[in-house]
Amino acid sequence: MYDTTTRVLSELLSGQPRSGQAIAAALSISRAAVWKHINTLRALGYEISSRTRIGYTLTYIPDHPHGILVHQYYSPVSLGKSIIYLPECASTNSELRLRAEAGAPAGLVVAADEQHAGRGRRGRTWTAARGTALLFSVLLRPQMPPTELAGLTLVAGVAVVEALQHLGAIATLKWPNDVHIAGKKICGILTEQSGEIDATNYVILGIGVNVWAHPQGGDYVSTSLAAEGLRHSRASVLAAILAALEVNLDLFTQGQQALCLEKWRRFNTTLGRQVTVHGIGGTYAGLARDITPTGALVVTRDDGQERVVTAGDVSLRD
Ligand code: BTN
Repeated sequence: MYDTTTRVLSELLSGQPRSGQAIAAALSISRAAVWKHINTLRALGYEISSRTRIGYTLTYIPDHPHGILVHQYYSPVSLGKSIIYLPECASTNSELRLRAEAGAPAGLVVAADEQHAGRGRRGRTWTAARGTALLFSVLLRPQMPPTELAGLTLVAGVAVVEALQHLGAIATLKWPNDVHIAGKKICGILTEQSGEIDATNYVILGIGVNVWAHPQGGDYVSTSLAAEGLRHSRASVLAAILAALEVNLDLFTQGQQALCLEKWRRFNTTLGRQVTVHGIGGTYAGLARDITPTGALVVTRDDGQERVVTAGDVSLRD
């Protein structure tokens, strides 16, 4: 499940000193290899003291979404048993797509400290300063036709809201799945899929949560957990989201779509509000009246026409 560097880290996580010899024996590697992996960990920001006849002691754990740290907070059943941590990449969605195409199993997670070409919905870019946000993607291989997948994007939003509520935030959803705290965006979700007309090959859920800081300016007002007074490590936020995703994806794929939709309704701040829709059919104003079982937004335009919005963005007018 873990690479060797991570297994060396696991030998040190108790905080007690461990000799190079004991680690080498436990992992069936040479002492020179232990030393090499200790230096890899130091380069990642872990502080590890080394004393003659005593051994290595882990004295500081940096805030990384490293699998072994995430697993301190939850025991994965289906999602995140394997978490690939990358200090940097173009986009975690792109990294995961490469692995998906090569046959990676469902549940694989790629998490990064920094993205050079992070993608947002509708062709936007997603930016976050290095180490300040939780940036990750989850691979799903649902046994369902693409026509039934739209709800997955709502389910992902529901899971993030439940996870952030579990961590003490009053989080809400704006259609389709922007997660907000106090009316400011804290998390965005980009769902990408590959498949035929009647069969889904895989789905990638890409999730970005502002943890320690948030971008200033841009298209909308943002916030971060820290700005809202919540201090949680990225590993613990990732664990909370994966745990909530497991529960809600199980519900969704096992015939409980209505329950998922009910949760979405409970968390959303869009229905019943005056909105401006930025959709495929252009930009117009209206009242967000309802959501369909497949996740489309039903809007009554100011001129009285009814629109069913399957893709797009809304901004709240009141
Ligand atoms: C949005 O526009 O609100 C969606 C933003 C999704 C950003 C996340 S960050 C991790 C993953 N990798 C990407 O390139 N995008 C998603």
